[in-house]
Amino acid sequence: MMTVMMGRLCFAHKTALAPMVRVGTLPMRLLALDYGADIVYCEVRMDIYTHTCHISVHLNTVDFVAPDERVMFRTCSKEKGRVVFQMGTADPERALVVAKLVENDVAAVDVNMGCPKEYSTKGGMGSALLSDPEKIEAILSTLVNGISKPVTCKIRILSTLEDTVNLVKRIEKTGVAAIAVHGRMKEERPRHPVHCDYIQAVAESVSIPVIANGGSSDIVKTFEDIEKFRAAAGASSVMLARAAMWNPSIFRQQGALSVEEVMEDYIRYVISLLCMSVFCMSVLCSEVFGMTDFYNKTKAELEARKAALQTNGDQ
Ligand code: FNR
Repeated sequence: MMTVMMGRLCFAHKTALAPMVRVGTLPMRLLALDYGADIVYCEVRMDIYTHTCHISVHLNTVDFVAPDERVMFRTCSKEKGRVVFQMGTADPERALVVAKLVENDVAAVDVNMGCPKEYSTKGGMGSALLSDPEKIEAILSTLVNGISKPVTCKIRILSTLEDTVNLVKRIEKTGVAAIAVHGRMKEERPRHPVHCDYIQAVAESVSIPVIANGGSSDIVKTFEDIEKFRAAAGASSVMLARAAMWNPSIFRQQGALSVEEVMEDYIRYVISLLCMSVFCMSVLCSEVFGMTDFYNKTKAELEARKAALQTNGDQ
C-alpha cells in the first residue's frame, strides 16, 4: 500500500499552473515547471472529443489524436508525474473512458466544474454541474473507483457560503484527492474581486488539500504574492492562471524574467517538441527566430536517440 501511495501526486503545499484553453499547451506547461511550478494542468478537453482518441507515441511526445487527426492532448516524459488532465464532462461513463485512456500518461485527472461558457453549460458541463450535486457525485465516484490515479475537481463558489461548504463536503466524500476553488461565482467576471473568505471557509471545512484560485491581478503580481494569496485564502495550495499567462516566470523564486527571455525559452520548446514530427513548422520557427543552430543540435540528438532505440530494439 505504501509503495502505491508514494508514487501518487500529492496536492498539499503546491503551486500550480491553472488549466487554460489555448494557453496551457505543452511548451507552456514545461516552461511553468522549469520556472518552479509544482503541478501543471492542461487546457480543458471535452469528453465527447477525447473518448474516441487513439494514442500515438513519438520519440519525444505522446499524442492523443482524434479520429479527424486533431491532436487533443500532447504530453511528454518531462511532465509525467506532474501533469493533470482536465476534462469537461457531464457523463460518468464517458468520463471514465477518457480517464482510462490518459491515466498512464498523466499524474491525475481533474473535472471542470467552473466553466461558465455556453459551450460547456449547454451540455450540462462546467459550472452547470454546480447545480447538480448528484451528477457531480456520480462522475467523481466513478472516476475515483475506476482509475488508479488521483481525481480532483475545480469548482467556482456558490452564491452563499453555506451552500458552497455543503457542496464541497459532498465532493470530499467521493474520495477526490484535492479540490481547486476559483473564488468567484459563475455570474462573476475576472474583474470582480476574488472572495478569499469563501475559499478559507472551504479549506476549514474539509480535510483534503484546497487549491486557491482566482488571485491573479487582485493579489498575485509577483512570486512573493503567491504566498500572500495562500495565506489570505487559508489554503494549502495556489493555482495561477492569468498571472502565469502574462508571464509564466512568475513561478520563479529568483524573480520574473523579461517577456523576451520567456519567449525565447518557449520557442526552444516548440522547436524541440516539433522537430521530429512537424518538421516544416519546426524549421520555420528556428529560421524566423534565429535558432537554426539550436534546431540542428536538437535534431541531431533526437536522431541519435532514435538510432539507439532502433539498435536496442533489433537485439
Ligand atoms: C481559463 N480558465 C479555465 N478554467 C478551467 O477550469 N479550464 C480551462 O480550460 C480554462 N481556460 C481558461 C483560459 C484562459 C485564457 C483563462 C484566462 C482562464 C479559468 C482559470 O483557470 C482560472 O480559474 C481563472 O482565470 C481565475 O484564476 P486567475 O486568473 O485569477 O489566476
